[in-house]
Amino acid sequence: MDGVLIKARDLNRSYRAAREQISVLHGLSLELRSGEAVAVIGPSGSGKSTLLNLLNGLLRPDSGQLQVFGRDQSELTDADWAELRRTRIATLFQDGNLIPTLTVARNIAFRTGLAGLQAHEGDALLEQLDIADTTHRYPDQLSGGQRQRAALACAFAMQPRLILADEPTGSLDQATAKRVSPLFFDAIRERNVGALIVTHNPELARSCDRILELREGALHPWDSAASL
Ligand SMILES: Nc1ncnc2c1ncn2[C@@H]1O[C@H](COP(=O)(O)OP(=O)(O)O)[C@@H](O)[C@H]1O
Ligand SMILES: [Mg+2]
Repeated sequence: MDGVLIKARDLNRSYRAAREQISVLHGLSLELRSGEAVAVIGPSGSGKSTLLNLLNGLLRPDSGQLQVFGRDQSELTDADWAELRRTRIATLFQDGNLIPTLTVARNIAFRTGLAGLQAHEGDALLEQLDIADTTHRYPDQLSGGQRQRAALACAFAMQPRLILADEPTGSLDQATAKRVSPLFFDAIRERNVGALIVTHNPELARSCDRILELREGALHPWDSAASL
């Protein structure tokens, strides 16, 4: 493989709602390589979450071409996508990342176990994120910001090749959000991970290699990073 993790050409996706068809993504193209972080910005409702869910196989495009890890999505079965999500693709959803009936420690053990790794992969991450004291708590015993950090620890502990993050710093105060950036950029540099990060956090966006704006169903280069 030539390091291209995602290659999308002319993707289209709409939703059927009541009597109308809502076209959300139309003619969207994207290329993401190993070791590259790309920020995606765009207003609420522009299709950012839809895009991430096309890239992790939870949604399928209506038309267009999509390759992940060099494989064409039309050839990937639901089981293939599930395998990719277990071992290679970590998605950080806006909420609902943690299993509510498991403690933080068991959430990490579960996630790493699926990827064939040991649970202690998460220990250093919990320290780094300053939530080592929450490992024996259940998700509903955490603050929003602690939950978000626990979800980050789970995602990174599985050592993914591709990280899809939906507002990973949305519930964090500025000081805590600052602790999160190194997680992404260390993984990207040291393990050659690729990351697509939906974010409104200017600092996180500016730290990425590129910023793309989702507008009118497609991605456009955002060339005024200074104005974020
Ligand atoms: N399951 C669904 N059924 C119908 N419409 C949907 C569904 N999911 C999302 N949409 C619509 O698609 C558009 C894009 O949604 P979304 O991808 O969640 O945007 P964003 O993440 O940028 O806020 C919105 O207009 C939303 O209302
Ligand atoms: Mg969204």
